[in-house]
Amino acid sequence: MSKVDGKTVLVTGAGRGIGRAIAVEMARQGAAAVAVADRDGATAEETAGLVRAAGAKAKAIVCDLRDRDSVEAMVARTARRFEGLDVLVNNAGVIETSLTEDCAVDTLPEEVWDAVYEINLKAVWLTTKFAAPHLRRSARGPAIVNTGSVSGLTGFPLGPAYCTTKGGVVQLTKVTAIDLAPVRCNCLCPGVIDTPLAQGFFDAAEDRDEMERQLTAPQLVDRLGRPEEVAKLACFLASDDAAFITGSSYVIDGGALAWRGVRA
Ligand SMILES: NC(=O)c1ccc[n+]([C@@H]2O[C@H](COP(=O)([O-])OP(=O)(O)OC[C@H]3O[C@@H](n4cnc5c(N)ncnc54)[C@H](O)[C@@H]3O)[C@@H](O)[C@H]2O)c1
Repeated sequence: MSKVDGKTVLVTGAGRGIGRAIAVEMARQGAAAVAVADRDGATAEETAGLVRAAGAKAKAIVCDLRDRDSVEAMVARTARRFEGLDVLVNNAGVIETSLTEDCAVDTLPEEVWDAVYEINLKAVWLTTKFAAPHLRRSARGPAIVNTGSVSGLTGFPLGPAYCTTKGGVVQLTKVTAIDLAPVRCNCLCPGVIDTPLAQGFFDAAEDRDEMERQLTAPQLVDRLGRPEEVAKLACFLASDDAAFITGSSYVIDGGALAWRGVRA
């Protein structure tokens, strides 16, 4: 029996990429129901279909995480439809390279800084705030999984808003674990994972293949990470097997952060 058996899960940014993989993996591992939230209704519906095919109930919810009322409604609709909420996965995120070509600390437009902050950090807090009463009422091992990044643990060029919001998510994870205990809260910090976000990042570079090579060169596992691999870690952290784990961040990056990337 899986340790996410019977749980009700809400995943943000679940229309594609890592969020979609998490929604489907939760269903594969026995979750009772998965709310699939995304600002893109069509991709959310597609993911909901995959969740149902994997054996769980599903509901696609259109939500713009930059809109406070939309966030509140997303949580309320999930809890109403599935009679509660046991697991929240704050997965959605954006990177400034997908919003502007001016990404350096001295060129980034203010509105892009604000957009990245609203989605990557403020919405994680707001969703957690609205979900907290439901999670506190859960009798099925309530847990939150946040999606940070290795960029929240180390510097990265052309990502002033991305890196600082992801660092903020690592810290918010700790505060959430303290304030909401016994609801657990942990954070994933992926490296380079093969999703539309990462592919868009490569495409924005002058030489996309060189950018991919540079990003994967320090890894000890010589390939892009897979969304399904991140999803398995998310499911573990949400499961009762992780009952003694809270307030922590977990790197999943093929070993890139283990060293300085200098080969002898
Ligand atoms: N792919 C990587 O290499 C990588 C590495 C480290 C961390 N991450 C993090 O993992 C998470 C998922 O990344 P991904 O690569 O799957 O991204 P993605 O761009 O492929 O998917 C993100 C999803 O979030 C949704 N979304 C974006 N803004 C939204 C908003 N305002 N309201 C509602 N939904 C919104 C998008 O529609 C999309 O479906 C992000 O937090 C990202 O920062 C990704």
